[in-house]
Amino acid sequence: MNVTLLLLTLVFSLVNADCGGEFKIICYFSSWTGIHPEAKNCTHIVYTFARVEDDNTLTGVWNNPLKEFKNNKDPDLKVMLAVGGQDYVIRRANEMMSKDEFRQKFVISTTKLLRTHEFDGIDLNFEPSEALGPPSSPNPQVIEDKKRFTVLCKDLQEEYAEEAARTGRTRLLLTITISGVKKQLESRFELDELAKCADWLNVQTYDYRGSRDKVAEHHSALMPAASATDEDKDLNQDSAIKYIVGTGIEPSKLTLGLPTFGKKFRLTSDLHDLGSPASSVGSVPYTELCRNTNSGWQRVFLDDRKVPIMTKGDEVIGYDDLQSMELKINYAKEQRLGGIVIFPVNFDDSAGQLCNHGKFPIVSLVKELTSNYTVSCAPLTTPPLNTTTAARNRTKNITPKWKIPRTDYFGPNIGPYRYHRRVNNSARILNSIYIVPCVLFQIFFLIV
Ligand SMILES: *[C@@H]1O[C@H](CO)[C@@H](O)[C@H](O)[C@H]1NC(C)=O
Ligand SMILES: *[C@@H]1O[C@H](CO)[C@@H](O)[C@H](O)[C@H]1NC(C)=O
Ligand SMILES: *[C@@H]1O[C@H](CO)[C@@H](O)[C@H](O)[C@H]1NC(C)=O
Ligand SMILES: *[C@@H]1O[C@H](CO)[C@@H](O)[C@H](O)[C@H]1NC(C)=O
Ligand SMILES: *[C@@H]1O[C@H](CO)[C@@H](O)[C@H](O)[C@H]1NC(C)=O
Repeated sequence: MNVTLLLLTLVFSLVNADCGGEFKIICYFSSWTGIHPEAKNCTHIVYTFARVEDDNTLTGVWNNPLKEFKNNKDPDLKVMLAVGGQDYVIRRANEMMSKDEFRQKFVISTTKLLRTHEFDGIDLNFEPSEALGPPSSPNPQVIEDKKRFTVLCKDLQEEYAEEAARTGRTRLLLTITISGVKKQLESRFELDELAKCADWLNVQTYDYRGSRDKVAEHHSALMPAASATDEDKDLNQDSAIKYIVGTGIEPSKLTLGLPTFGKKFRLTSDLHDLGSPASSVGSVPYTELCRNTNSGWQRVFLDDRKVPIMTKGDEVIGYDDLQSMELKINYAKEQRLGGIVIFPVNFDDSAGQLCNHGKFPIVSLVKELTSNYTVSCAPLTTPPLNTTTAARNRTKNITPKWKIPRTDYFGPNIGPYRYHRRVNNSARILNSIYIVPCVLFQIFFLIV
């Protein structure tokens, strides 16, 4: 055979080794809610969460509950172990990364733990549960941590390659869960470096809103709100993916986070709209949301953000149902992403009895929409997002009653108060300056 041709073929296959291939269906699986090993349509199950011990070793896992299932029923399944998750573990991990000897001890200990319990790889998930997380300002500590994270990634990559060569076993996988917020991505991750040392990057495209926010908003919008301004424009999936791909990362190196839960807010004033003052009440699992649809909650689909909310009284839940999930899965395909991360798979309807859409409706939906699909290496041509979903009648479409126009709460030159998405302080102050004399005047009038 012509040597040049051989070389060319080799180079071509190397270049293409990183793009294309199977669309990954990654099921994050929390150990605390039982085991659903029959989630067969997952290509990867990520078992959560291991910790970094005080002596800098990987710890917190005493067995692999999916080992038997994998060995006996689904040999192609990859079972990975995630480390991180909680804030104290993230702090511990930062300490571990701060010294070469700590980091080296950790790296060696991961191989030992993963091999002992027959895991196929590790996911570094040092993302706080609230997207705005640690400071994103480029202070010296943040810059230092950013570099250290790359060093850890490279050390793990080297260790796993070396271990595989030495033992003849399949190399352990290395993935990283990264923030889905542009500002965090800029300041905390050397994305180009991480994309080289990790097998892929899971983008945490949810938890955009939470208890830090004093207003009601969707925690996992696909697109920005039409009314979004400034940094709020970045708090959605599309902005995150476009930003990362814009830095030159191969899209198939990214997976899109698909939350199986909603986030509930309780309105704290009588303003009833997204952007109104509210306090975060917590997360609501998908199965629980299915029950809500039959108990007086009203669903409203947000055409700009491409996700639904449900409302009842003074409560509002931003969540995903099969309709918005379909849009998100199609988005991942259109953007040539490497896969979807279902977070967590525990909240899918494993028995099919709560949501009336069969067993594992979420995992099955991802499988169905991607079954004949392989991630392509063709250059990105940015096709428009097809937001017309097939009429499946999966979700009830209820006419929004939530936004009943109201004409009270007018302030000078700021229009109806309730339409202000973010109640900004000066608007609030202006309003109280206006309202207080008004009320006083009326009281005075009544007395007279
Ligand atoms: C896997 O996905 C297919 C296609 O959506 C579905 O028909 C099947 O029921 C799913 N199997 C399981 C075990 O979830
Ligand atoms: C996948 O492709 C096969 C063969 O082309 C076809 O028979 C099958 O119906 C396809 N499945 C889906 C879900 O499109
Ligand atoms: C968009 O998706 C819908 C439903 O799957 C389909 O009927 C329609 O033809 C698609 N439109 C385009 C432009 O691909
Ligand atoms: C969806 O619901 C509408 C109205 O209830 C009905 O007319 C239509 O046939 C249903 N479509 C499907 C695909 O079931
Ligand atoms: C806040 O509201 C006031 C009054 O409407 C406006 O002048 C100001 O520009 C707003 N500030 C921000 C940061 O949106």
